[in-house]
Amino acid sequence: MTDLKRTLGVCYYPEHWPEEQWAEDARRMVETGLTWVRIGEFAWARIEPEPGRFDWGWLDRAIETLGAAGLRVVLGTPTATPPRWVLDRHPDMLAVDANGRPRKFGSRRHYCFSHRGYLEECRRIVTALAERYGRNPQLGAWQTDNEYGCHDTTLSYSDAARQAFRDWLRARYAAPSGNGGDVGALNRAWGNVFWSMDYADFDEIDLPNLTVTEPNPAHSHAFLRFSSDQVVRFNRAQADIIRAHSDAPIAHNYMGRVTEFDHFDVGADLEIASWDSYPLGFLEDRVGASDAEKRHFARQGDPDFQAFHHDLYRAVGRGRWWIMEQQPGPVNWAPYNPAPLPGMVRLWTWEAFAHGAEAVCYFRWRQAPFAQEQMHAGLLRPDSAEAPALAEARHVSEELADAKEVSVPRAPVALIFDYAAEWAWKVQPHGHGLSYFALVFEHYRALRRAGLSIDILPPDVRDVSGYRAVFAPGLMHMPDVLKETLTAGGCELVLGPRSGARDADFAIPRPLPPAIPGLDIAVARVESLRPDMPVAVAGGGHLTRYVEDLEGSAEVVLATEDGAAAAVRAARTTYVAGWADAELLDRLVRDIADRADIAIVDLPPGLRIRDTATERFWFNYNPHPVDGPAGRIAPAGVYRETF
Ligand code: GAL
Repeated sequence: MTDLKRTLGVCYYPEHWPEEQWAEDARRMVETGLTWVRIGEFAWARIEPEPGRFDWGWLDRAIETLGAAGLRVVLGTPTATPPRWVLDRHPDMLAVDANGRPRKFGSRRHYCFSHRGYLEECRRIVTALAERYGRNPQLGAWQTDNEYGCHDTTLSYSDAARQAFRDWLRARYAAPSGNGGDVGALNRAWGNVFWSMDYADFDEIDLPNLTVTEPNPAHSHAFLRFSSDQVVRFNRAQADIIRAHSDAPIAHNYMGRVTEFDHFDVGADLEIASWDSYPLGFLEDRVGASDAEKRHFARQGDPDFQAFHHDLYRAVGRGRWWIMEQQPGPVNWAPYNPAPLPGMVRLWTWEAFAHGAEAVCYFRWRQAPFAQEQMHAGLLRPDSAEAPALAEARHVSEELADAKEVSVPRAPVALIFDYAAEWAWKVQPHGHGLSYFALVFEHYRALRRAGLSIDILPPDVRDVSGYRAVFAPGLMHMPDVLKETLTAGGCELVLGPRSGARDADFAIPRPLPPAIPGLDIAVARVESLRPDMPVAVAGGGHLTRYVEDLEGSAEVVLATEDGAAAAVRAARTTYVAGWADAELLDRLVRDIADRADIAIVDLPPGLRIRDTATERFWFNYNPHPVDGPAGRIAPAGVYRETF
C-alpha cells in the first residue's frame, strides 16, 4: 500500500502557438490548479528541422516559461512523428500492412518497429534530448514515443520485419550446440509436416500474410509474439538512453483495448504506466456495447471500461500509473462524438484517483484551429475562452486541496490478464467474434456489478495467496508454474473455458487440457455456436457461443438443462465449460463470493463503486439520478463515504 499525492496536468503544444502566448497559458494552467504539462512528443521537425541541425532555442524557452510559472514538465520523445527528411534517408522504414501496402507519410506513426535505420535515428534524437534536458530542474518525467500500436501500427509485414522475425525464430528454436537455430525443431514444434510446410532453413520462413488460406496458427502466434517483442525492444532502447542521462521517471502512454503488444513486458522497462482515456470515443468504437448501451451511456461512457484499464495499467506500472490524456469534451475520431454530460470530466478524474492514479492530465490545453484534430475539444476553445471542461478540472483541483491522501489496498478479488492468450484467441477464435479481451472484460463487469474492487494480475504472478478469489478465464496456454501458483494460493479459483488448451508452440497438449492439478477433468470436445443458439443452464443463465464437453470425476456444480456439465469443481478450483452470459456470470460471482466470504453489494445498473483504504467511492454513470447509500446520487455524480 502506498500513499499517493494526486495531481492534475495537461497536454500542451507550445510549437502550435505564438511564443508571446506561452506565459499567459502557463499562468492560466497554474491558476486552474494544474501541476503537470506534457510537451514535445510530436515536435521532431521543430527540434531538428534538417538532419543534424538542432533548434533548441524554442524548446529551452518553452520549458523555462512553463517551469517558471510553477509547472512540472513531462517531456515526450518525438519518435511517433519522424519528419519527412527521416523518410527520405530511410525510404524503406515505413510499416507495411497485411496486404503488402506501405503506410505513407502524412499523418503519424509511419514507421516499422523492426527497421534498424529508423531505430538508429530514434537513438540519435533521444540521446540529444536526454543530454540536453536530462538534468533540467523543470523536468519531472519522460514519455517515450506516443501510444505504441495506435492506428494499427504494431504489426508490420515489411522486409525489415521479415528479416528480424527469422532472427527471432533462430533464437527461439536455438540449436543445442548454441550455434544458430534448429529449423527441424521449429518444424516439429509447429507441425509443418501438415500440408508439406517444412522449412530447410530459417531464411525460407516468410511472414504469415497473403497465404492462400489460413497460415499455420503456430506461425501466426509466433509472429504476434515477435511483433510484441519488437515494441519492447524499441521502447527499451529509448529508456536505456534516457536513464543514462536522467533520474526522472519514464512513462509511456498506453491506449484502451490495444493488445497487440505485451504491456507488462514494455512496462518492465519503465517507472510509470500511463494511459489515454477517451470514454465516449471508446464506447462508440471499441467497448463492444450494444446499440441500447451506446445510447444510454452516450454522454458518460461505459461504466466499466475505464476502470478495467485503470486496474490493468496499475498492474503494468507495478503500482505507479497516470492518466496521460483525459478526454475533456467531444473528440474527433469516433463514429459519433457527443459532448460529455456536465460533471463527467470530474467523475472520470475522480474515478482514476480512486483506482490509484497519481496524476490525471487532460488532452489538450487549447483546441487546435488547424490540421487533423480541429474537431477535438480542449480545456480552452480555439479563441482561448474557457471550454466547459476547464471548470470541472478547476473543481477537482479545489477538491484535491482538502482531500485525504489515497492508499490503494489489495482488492479481495484478482483477475488475470495475459496478452499471449489474447493473441492465441485472435489466431484461433474458433467462432466468429470470440475474443479473450471480451471474455475477461465480461468477468470484470460481473465482478463490478457485485460492487467489488478488483486487482488485475499478470500471468507470471507467483503468489496469489493474499486474494480470496482469483478469476483466470481463457488462458489458452498455462505453463505448469502458473497452474501450480494458482492452485496453491489457497483461494477460490475460477478457470475455463479454453484453459491450457495449447502448449507453448500452439499444439493441443496430451493429456488433454486443462490438466489442472487436483481437478480430474479433460475437455473431450469443443464446439462454437451461433449467438442465437444459447445453451440454457439449470437455475438461470446460458453458455453461449463456445461450449466444451467435459470428461472426468470432478463434481458438477452447474448443469445445462440437458444435464451436461456447465461448471465443475474440486476443492477450491471451479472450471466453467464455456462462455457464460451475464446472468450466469452474476450467479457464478455470487457463489464464489459466498464461498470466499466476500461481501457483495446490490447495485442499480450504471452505478459502480471502488474502495480505497479509507473511502468508498460511488460513481453514477447514468444520465439520471439513482438511489445510493445516502440518498440520491445525481447523474454524473460522485459520492464518497469514509470507512
Ligand atoms: C490520442 C493521441 C493524441 C491525440 C488524441 C486525440 O490517441 O495520443 O495525440 O491524437 O488521441 O483524442
